[in-house]
Amino acid sequence: MKNKIWVGTNWKMTKTIREGLSYTEELISIAENISSNIELFIIPSYTALVPIKKLTSNSRVHIGSQNMHWEDQGAFTGEISPKMLDEIGVNIIELGHSERRQYYNENDEDINKKVHSGLKYGMKPLVCIGENIEQKANGISKEMLAAQLKVCLKDLTEEQAQQVMIAYEPVWAIGESGIPADATYVSEIHQFLREQLMNLFGDAGSAVPLLYGGSVNFDNFIEYIDIEDVNGLFIGRSAWNTESFEKILHRLDEHLFA
Ligand code: PGA
Repeated sequence: MKNKIWVGTNWKMTKTIREGLSYTEELISIAENISSNIELFIIPSYTALVPIKKLTSNSRVHIGSQNMHWEDQGAFTGEISPKMLDEIGVNIIELGHSERRQYYNENDEDINKKVHSGLKYGMKPLVCIGENIEQKANGISKEMLAAQLKVCLKDLTEEQAQQVMIAYEPVWAIGESGIPADATYVSEIHQFLREQLMNLFGDAGSAVPLLYGGSVNFDNFIEYIDIEDVNGLFIGRSAWNTESFEKILHRLDEHLFA
């Protein structure tokens, strides 16, 4: 039995303001018929954050940003600060997505600084972790994941840890060339992650939502959400048009909360 789950999508670099607004209008009306046990979030492009925040301000759709610097201000060309995102009213900060790690060298130490800064402003960090295919082949997935968790969440109090969400996204399962993971594998890893969180934060570790992501689609999401330690879904391509996202949301709602 799950009381509450988180379901959301990161748009990556796919939608203009205009496209984002029409998507969001549709999602807001879809959300009216979805149980409140499902916490919905979207993570638009930076340019769309302000108009989308305005549009969603009276709805239950949470808004996230795809990255953030840890400093409030300074000579960091091209970056955006927690103070700026807080001014917009952003609720969630996505950190450490595999594309950011791979193309922009984002590392666990930086993510840790960003987690602390985001929390200072009352924003919820959504920390993405995942092993790549070589690490999986070498049998070191768990070691990698344990290290990512430990460093990304370094020096958090138990109370702070409960404000964080983790998305487990195996790098080899993400995107066009991704291979959907076996539910048994996801179950084993999520159980392991829960143990690690409890080692780090005691009972507070059991309150940290663990989302699963990577090629989640209409045909496989039930298998993933039925796993005990999966507390939500982080969906890319299958949620980028509202029709496909709506199908998933209705089926999910029916499956878990009807
Ligand atoms: P995907 O993306 O669902 O399109 O594989 C997941 C992600 O990158 O978070």
